[in-house]
Amino acid sequence: MENKKFPFKEAKEIDFMDAIVQENWFEAYDLIREESPAYFMPQIGMYVLTRYADIEHVLRDPEQFTSSRDTEPLIKFKESLSLYEEKGWPRIQPLSLNVPKHSHFRKLVDPALAAGAIKKKKTFIVNVINELIDTWIDEGQIAFMERFAEPLPMIVIAELLGLPRMDLPLLKVWSSAWVLPHSKGLTVEQETEAVKKHIELQHYIFDSMKQKRKNPKDDIISHLIQTEVFDVDINAKRPLTDEEVIGSVDHLLIGGNETTTFAISNGLWLLFKNAEVYKNIEANPALIKNFVEETLRIESPTQGLFRSAKYDCEIGGVEIPAGSTLSIRYGAGNRDPRRYRCPMEPDLNRKNAGRHLAFGIGEHVCPGATLSRYEQRWAWEILLSRLKNLRPTPGKNDFTHMKGIWLRALNEIYLSFD
Ligand code: HEM
Repeated sequence: MENKKFPFKEAKEIDFMDAIVQENWFEAYDLIREESPAYFMPQIGMYVLTRYADIEHVLRDPEQFTSSRDTEPLIKFKESLSLYEEKGWPRIQPLSLNVPKHSHFRKLVDPALAAGAIKKKKTFIVNVINELIDTWIDEGQIAFMERFAEPLPMIVIAELLGLPRMDLPLLKVWSSAWVLPHSKGLTVEQETEAVKKHIELQHYIFDSMKQKRKNPKDDIISHLIQTEVFDVDINAKRPLTDEEVIGSVDHLLIGGNETTTFAISNGLWLLFKNAEVYKNIEANPALIKNFVEETLRIESPTQGLFRSAKYDCEIGGVEIPAGSTLSIRYGAGNRDPRRYRCPMEPDLNRKNAGRHLAFGIGEHVCPGATLSRYEQRWAWEILLSRLKNLRPTPGKNDFTHMKGIWLRALNEIYLSFD
C-alpha cells in the first residue's frame, strides 16, 4: 500500500528531507543500516543511527549524548523569540533537561503517569472510548482520525492535567502550533504565528494555575504548583517557577496527543493490511497487548529525534567529533534484523514484544508510555467488541503520510464497519 515508488539503490542517494524517502522510511533505513552504523548524511549534516544496539548505547549514555538542541535553536527568528520575552514566558522543557537536572523534574510527574495511577482512571478512559463510539456507531463509516483517534488521547490527557473538556478545540489548535517549529524551513511569518499561538497556550495554562492555587484538585497541574523540586544549583528544594510549570504542562499536553493518535491509526492500518492478525486478535483479545506493541515497533509514531555528542567519541568504529548531531531513528532500530526475526512482520507471539524503541529507552524514556499503551489497549478491546468487519472505506483512502522527518503519521484513514 506504499504509494510512491522507491527509486534509490545506495545510501548516498538518501536525503531525509526528500518526500519520497519520508513516504518510504523503511527502505531508506535498510540501505543506511547496511552502509554504516553511524552514517553521516551530508544533506542534513547529521550522523544517522539505524541499528538497535547503537541506538540503545547512545540513549543509555546521557552524559555523553545530550538531548538538548545544543547545535541548533528551535526558535530561529529574533522576531518570534522576542515575543516570548514581551508577551509570554521563556519556551523551556523542564522534563527534557540534561542530566543531572533531568531526573528531579521527571520525578514530579512520573508517579501520576505510572500504571497504578492510570488503572485508577480506567473507568473514565473506558467511558470516553464508549461515548466516542456511540456518537458514530450508526453511521457505518467514519473519518477514524477525526472521530476517534484524535479526541481520545486529547480528552484523557486534559483530564489528567486538570483542564476542562470543553476547551478541547482550543487545545487542538495550540498543540499543532507548538509542534510546528519542529519542522524545518518555516518562514518568519509562519514561525511568528506559531509562537503567538503558543503564548496563548502559556496564558491559558497560567490562568488554570491561578484557579488551582485557590482551589487545588487531584490533577497534575495542582500537584506541580504545590510541590517542590530539588535544584542542583542551590543544592536544596524549592517551589517550581511559573515558567517551569507551564513548560512541563505544555510538554505533557502535546506529548500526550499526536503520538497516541498516530499509534491508534497506524494500528488500524496494520489491521487492514494483515487479515490474519485481525482475525487472531478479534478471536483472542488477550493478544491485543502484543498487537499494540507490534504496532508501536513496526509503525513507530516517533521515527526519530536528536542527540548531541558532548565529547569526541566512536560509534561502531565511526569517529564522531564533539558537537555533532545524531539523528536517532527509533523506527529503524525497531526493524533491525540483527535484533528481530522477520522484523517487517507483526508477530503476536513475539517474545519481549514490548522491548522496542518506540518510546525511547534510558534516562529520557517517554513518561507517557504506560498511559498510551493502556489507551491503545482499551481502545482496541472495545472497538473490536463493538464493531465487526473493519475495512477501508472504498475510494476514500490513499494511505499517504504527513510530511516531515520525525513522525510517522497517516494523513487520514477512513473506516467502514458492520
Ligand atoms: C504512542 C505514543 C507515544 C510515543 C510513540 C512517544 C514517544 C516518545 C519518545 C520516542 C520520546 C523521547 C525519548 C528520548 O528522548 O529518547 C518521548 C519523550 C517524551 N514523551 Fe512521549 N510518546 C508517546 C506518548 C506520550 C504521552 C501520552 C505523553 C504524556 C502524557 C508523552 C510525553 C513525553 C514527554 C514529556 C517526553 C520527554 C521526556 C524526557 O525527555 O525525559 N508521550 N516520547
